[in-house]
Order: sequence, then C-alpha cells, then structure tokens
Amino acid sequence: MTPITRKVLVIGGAGYIGSHMLKHLDQLGHWSVALDNLSHGHRDAVRNGRLVVGDMGDRGLLERVLTENRYDAVMHFASLIQVGESVRNPSAYYHNNFVLTKQLLDTLLQHGVRKFVFSSTAAVYGVPRTALLAESHPCDAINPYGRSKWMVEQLLRDYDHAYGLKSVSLRYFNAAGADPDGQLGERHDPESHLIPLALRAASGTGPTLTVHGTDYPTADGSCIRDFVHVSDLASAHALALDYLLAGGDTCSLNLGTGQGYSVLQVLAAVEQLTGRRVPHHLGPRRPGDPPVLVADPSMARTVLGWSVRRSDLPTLLADAWRWEQSNTDRAKRDQAEHST
Ligand SMILES: NC(=O)c1ccc[n+]([C@@H]2O[C@H](COP(=O)([O-])OP(=O)(O)OC[C@H]3O[C@@H](n4cnc5c(N)ncnc54)[C@H](O)[C@@H]3O)[C@@H](O)[C@H]2O)c1
Repeated sequence: MTPITRKVLVIGGAGYIGSHMLKHLDQLGHWSVALDNLSHGHRDAVRNGRLVVGDMGDRGLLERVLTENRYDAVMHFASLIQVGESVRNPSAYYHNNFVLTKQLLDTLLQHGVRKFVFSSTAAVYGVPRTALLAESHPCDAINPYGRSKWMVEQLLRDYDHAYGLKSVSLRYFNAAGADPDGQLGERHDPESHLIPLALRAASGTGPTLTVHGTDYPTADGSCIRDFVHVSDLASAHALALDYLLAGGDTCSLNLGTGQGYSVLQVLAAVEQLTGRRVPHHLGPRRPGDPPVLVADPSMARTVLGWSVRRSDLPTLLADAWRWEQSNTDRAKRDQAEHST
C-alpha cells in the first residue's frame, strides 16, 4: 500500500529537534513547512521542506501560511528552553511558550487544523517522588519553563473538550545525539546540555566542564538523567501523527528510555569513546536540579508502538561525536549568525 503523504507545519523547525523532525518527515514521504523566527534556530538546519522565517506570534504571517496550504497537522517545537533563564525572566517564558502557543492554537482552529503534536518536557513533573516517572506522577513543576509547558498541556485538554482539538504532548527527558548521517546535530547557543559540552571539552573546542553537584543521593553523587536520541524523538512524533490521524485521543506521553546514567558515567563513556580526557571540575549543586530523572516509557510503547533504536548510550554518543567533529568552524559561524 502506498503511504499517504501528509502536510505538516513544523513550528520551530530550524531548531535542534525540529530540524531532525523535518528530515524524518521527508524520509517518510511527508511534505512539510517549517516556521521559525531563527532566534535560536539555524537557516541551514532546514535541509528538508521549506522554511518560512517569522515569529509564531505574527498573526498575519500565520494566516498567510495557513491559507497557502491546508495542513493535516501541526508539530510545535518552538519554545525558549533554558531553565535558569526562565527563573530570571519568567515573563519572556510565559509569553513565548504559553501566550504565543495559545494564540497559535486559536489561529489553527480558525483554519480547521485539529491535530497537534506538542513538545513538552519531563520538567512538568518537578521533583520525582518515585524512581521511574510515569505519566500518572503528579505534575508539580519547579521552574517557569516547566510550568509554561504544563500550562500548555492543560490548555490542550480544555481545547479538546471545548473545540475538539486532538493533541499529543510528548514529555521528552534529555534529548541528545545527532542525525546518524551526520547532516544535523545539536547547536544551541548558549549550549547547556551535558553531552555536547562534554564532547567539546574533550576535543578542546569548548571550555572545561562543570559537574553541578557531587553530593546527591546517587551511587557516585552526581545527577542521573535519561538520555533519548533525537532520531528516536522524531520517530515518536511521526507515530503520534499517525495516531492522531487515525482518530487517537488527546494524551501526554513520556519519551525516555527507562535507563538512567549519572553525569560522571557519561563523562567516563565520553572518555572511552574519544580516547581523550574530559577536563572538568566539581561544582556545587544547581538550584532546581532533581537528583534523578528517569522515564517510565511504557505508555508511549503501548499507545504509539514506539521503541528506541539509537538511544543506547554508546550509539547516541558516537552520533553526537561524529557531528561535533564534522565541522569545528561551525560554532564560530553560529555565533556570528546570532550576533548579527
Ligand atoms: N533539548 C531538550 O533536551 C529538550 C528536552 C525537553 C523538551 N524539549 C522541548 O523541545 C522543543 C525543541 O527543543 P530544541 O532543543 O530543539 O530547542 P531549539 O532552541 O533548538 O529549537 C527551538 C526553535 O524554536 C524557535 N522559536 C522559539 N520561539 C519562537 C517563536 N516565537 N516563533 C518562531 N520560532 C521560535 C527557535 O528559533 C528554535 O529554532 C522545545 O519546545 C523544548 O522545550 C527539549
């Protein structure tokens, strides 16, 4: 049977996860348009589909995009993503992540789009009360970033009830890794994620790494996180799209592996992979970092039939390392792009 080509609008498609999504949609034979204001994304990360440069808060632009094509679904990756910054500047986070998302949803409804896949986060849970976090765990986010995502999730439930908008909120744990073909990878600026920082420290292209906290109640005292490959995240979104288009109901699902690694275990794995030492110093805890964040991913398996393919730590690190090595000048170009 020939697969059906779907039209998907990808908000935030020039970012890390959105750009991998565009590639995955293309590989599945779907048709996509990316809308991104390039505040944190990169024009050249949109290798598949068309890029419309603009802000999701620009109603006129959204109207034009939604009038030009009739979309089967929207995937929404656009967000501010730095937890610490959200504490210092909550206004920007509630505005960009919540207010503009509400405005986006209202416009989508006016144009008859009723299928929506939302990038949520494990940060909605707050401090875990159980070893593995299942979707039934209370949502008690401890920072404005997590709360802004949780507010969208609640809005999505109300919009389903009142307007019939069907959505899947995907609560990612720690996204990591890079496109296995080496075309795309992680380019946050500033970068705050452990794996690219560790790889850059090892290769000498980044500063000495700080391990934030070594007195947590874990085996080696450092935090434990659940790393999930960006390609596996993309495949979950594609399955969520199929689920919604087959009449699936609104739900929130964890995307993680169920296996946690401590920060020090990740550094040891990076040293083994690269054959280089990761220069690091041991620092104090960061406020708001839970000791352990590991998903119970069973619901995504049951509801979507999702399973991870590249999220085992050696594969994930090898993909990220290939990306980091592929172009040592890229970071300088990225900095220039965002300073102009
Ligand atoms: N990276 C992770 O580990 C992780 C974990 C959990 C959840 N998430 C969520 O996944 C999504 C994508 O994360 P990412 O790591 O790819 O981040 P990213 O910063 O690389 O991508 C976000 C993209 O959205 C764009 N954007 C932001 N505000 C916009 C606006 N108002 N209008 C148009 N475009 C806008 C940015 O330019 C950027 O390209 C985010 O919603 C994030 O909260 C990420």
